[in-house]
Amino acid sequence: MANEPIVADAARDALKRAAAEAAVELVQEGMIVGLGTGSTAAFAVEALARRHRQGLRFVGIPTSERAAAQARAAGIPLSSFAEHRQIDLTIDGADEVERGTLNLIKGLGGALLREKIVASASRQLAIIVDDAKLVDRLGTHAPVPVEVVAFGMEVTRAALEVFASEVRPRLSPTGELLVTDGGNRILDCRFAGPIADPVRLEDRIRRIVGVVESGLFIGRADPVFVADKQGVHRLDSARPAALSG
Ligand code: A5P
Repeated sequence: MANEPIVADAARDALKRAAAEAAVELVQEGMIVGLGTGSTAAFAVEALARRHRQGLRFVGIPTSERAAAQARAAGIPLSSFAEHRQIDLTIDGADEVERGTLNLIKGLGGALLREKIVASASRQLAIIVDDAKLVDRLGTHAPVPVEVVAFGMEVTRAALEVFASEVRPRLSPTGELLVTDGGNRILDCRFAGPIADPVRLEDRIRRIVGVVESGLFIGRADPVFVADKQGVHRLDSARPAALSG
């Protein structure tokens, strides 16, 4: 059937939108809101713009130039860390969400560094996904993106290859090395199957000189809104509240 992928994309978009709409309900008057990056987060920005037009007052801090451009075009007032050190709520997508722990892989959209800075400064990080992103173990489908500085990137790559089974430099659609909003590069890493100990892995990755940040988001998401055909399910973390740091 020639049109099956289009139908499947439309169905998946409907799930992404449903998860986004549920998370946007958390936004309250006067909040500083972190604006995520990616196709799911874009639905949240769209819903936020609608609520702004309806009279809800809030300001957004974007996680990428892409998110900033979308928000600006939609009329959402933007701010920055120069004015606000603390974000009340960030709504963002993810590439994988681990059942139970709610640990994440993020960064297939290339914005992981700003996303992690924004998440670290947020009291609450609400993650929005469709059910295809839910996994028993991180690394089931997605690689772990690692943002690295361009200088010496071959050496950084070799250090990652000591324990990664595959390290691939991320390319742009035109086939050149992708340059992130921060002017860095991304290495997509796989680790011979699902990741047994993401905390240890994150620590190991971040010890390598030249690594700026990894796409493992440990102990940060709460709640996660997962949309499937039955509706939107809210998964709350078993951790005590308080996310900053
Ligand atoms: C952007 O860098 C990512 O972290 C995205 O949040 C993630 O890739 C999810 O994107 P989609 O919603 O487009 O799948």
